[in-house]
Amino acid sequence: MSGPAPSRAVRLVREGGALVPRVVAAAAPPPPAGDQLLVRVAASSINGTDLGLARAGRVAHAVTGRRIAPGFDLAGEVVACGPAVTGFSVGDRVMTLLGHGGGAQADHVLVRQGRAARAPRSTGLSEAAAIPLAGLTALQALHGRAALPARPAARVLVVGAAGGIGSFAVQLARLAGAHVTAVADAPRAEHVRALGADVVVDRHEQDVLARGERWDVVLDVPGALRFAQVRPVLTADGVLVSTRPVSVDVLRDAASRRTPRTTAVATRRSPVDLAHLADLVDTGRLRVPLDRAYPLEEVAGAHAHARSGRLRGKVVVVLADELR
Ligand SMILES: NC(=O)c1ccc[n+]([C@@H]2O[C@H](COP(=O)([O-])OP(=O)(O)OC[C@H]3O[C@@H](n4cnc5c(N)ncnc54)[C@H](OP(=O)(O)O)[C@@H]3O)[C@@H](O)[C@H]2O)c1
Repeated sequence: MSGPAPSRAVRLVREGGALVPRVVAAAAPPPPAGDQLLVRVAASSINGTDLGLARAGRVAHAVTGRRIAPGFDLAGEVVACGPAVTGFSVGDRVMTLLGHGGGAQADHVLVRQGRAARAPRSTGLSEAAAIPLAGLTALQALHGRAALPARPAARVLVVGAAGGIGSFAVQLARLAGAHVTAVADAPRAEHVRALGADVVVDRHEQDVLARGERWDVVLDVPGALRFAQVRPVLTADGVLVSTRPVSVDVLRDAASRRTPRTTAVATRRSPVDLAHLADLVDTGRLRVPLDRAYPLEEVAGAHAHARSGRLRGKVVVVLADELR
């Protein structure tokens, strides 16, 4: 009698002193318990977080010591439901953001139903897989931390606009009625203009902070700026939002004010926000900025492209071609 089909998963493997992503055989998850969904993964995206792990040579969480596997978000199809599942059925197309342990780049993944949202109806699952981490981060940075909807006709600066988070952020800022200045190099200027940027500045040609302009919101996607640099270009109630989790600038400023002028986004796994992003996609207000989809076997190539400096939006790896 043949056993269950072997399951594939991506792991960071040490080769020649470097950590590289490789496809390995992995144990399939157990049947779903309680409110868990067993999801057959169609695709999973490459995020700055995956690249950061490999670059830092880390396979374990710095604080918890728990092992981390590449892949923090996914889209796929529900193939089994735990006995307490009420909101989903077998065959549903879902997307989700996993926790700090990652592991989304595997054939099957267990997901609690309260963490999942329905994938957009109007896109394939490869596009849906590009949404969770980057889309949630952009949404929660701009709508949450920067309170952009409460800032009419705001001027927004997006640094790192051509990559994953930036490509969502430019669109979300425009949707909120903002005037958007995007920092992206010349070959990718057209990409960010097509997403809605009003002005594009090439950081290799010009220091955007020296243009003599002021912004209500500065979103620092790569976490490359210090508050002291940005403070002179903020309007009176302007705010710097960074993806860099903790910095002395942030702590010092937050402690001294009721309304911080510098803050950091820590992405929350909100199914409500995911459903909102899916609705924006299905109503034609948000385009999923999918640059390229790689087959799972080419995951190392997907990482290389994501690191190449030529990235326009998101890169995904496809695990189940027939589902995408
Ligand atoms: N706090 C959180 O909860 C959270 C959540 C998600 C992600 N993150 C972090 O957010 C960062 C970005 O993620 P992502 O997925 O958007 O990465 P990405 O797709 O690689 O995009 C990063 C962008 O930043 C640009 N960039 C890099 N260094 C820069 C600099 N010094 N000045 C200006 N632009 C620069 C890159 O352009 P070039 O190619 O030209 O360098 C690229 O367009 C990652 O570091 C990730 O770890 C944090």
